[in-house]
Amino acid sequence: MEQLLRMVYVSESTQPLSGLGGEVPIEIGRILMQSRKNNPKLEVGGVLYFRNNYFFQCLEGEQDVVNDLYQKIATDPRHKQVQTLSVKRIHQRQFSDWSMKYVASKDQVNRLIRQFGMQEFNPYQFDDYMIDELLKVFNKSSDQTSQPDQSYSHQPNPDRQSKGLFSRLFGRR
Ligand SMILES: Cc1cc2nc3c(=O)[nH]c(=O)nc-3n(C[C@H](O)[C@H](O)[C@H](O)COP(=O)(O)O)c2cc1C
Repeated sequence: MEQLLRMVYVSESTQPLSGLGGEVPIEIGRILMQSRKNNPKLEVGGVLYFRNNYFFQCLEGEQDVVNDLYQKIATDPRHKQVQTLSVKRIHQRQFSDWSMKYVASKDQVNRLIRQFGMQEFNPYQFDDYMIDELLKVFNKSSDQTSQPDQSYSHQPNPDRQSKGLFSRLFGRR
């Protein structure tokens, strides 16, 4: 039976990344393109956040697949100090509609950081509670770079792919 895993890790960008007028940095655009090409084939989804030169990513999917993808991502020279923050078995995906959501929100995250008594966004210091709260914010936030592109069912479902295609073609989910 399929065992779903939620893995959250943090890392630091090797290069300072900035989007010229505040838009999505080019390197993040590349990472999102790769994720959105590869993850659907792996039935992996999740969310990516970038702030203060830190990456915060949540990957959800079948446990072996997530572990393998994480090993691959961890060796990517675009980031360093890759550190797993949380690995959990889950029954339901939180980002079931996304191959890789990208959230640019600052205000809501700032509010959370203040609630946590922190001065700035430093995900290496996050505990389980903070991670869950942050993911809730990301779940509700919009993604300016893309539309939901997946429709993973909670249970293994042999015709998931055709349903996904149906959703994509007819906008039903
Ligand atoms: C912060 C970060 C997050 C990434 N997330 C993903 C991801 O979710 N899926 C993915 O396929 N690649 C991701 N990548 C890129 C991979 O490390 C790798 O470059 C890519 O998968 C290679 O794709 P290819 O095998 O199609 O050439 C990420 C890279 C970084 C730096």
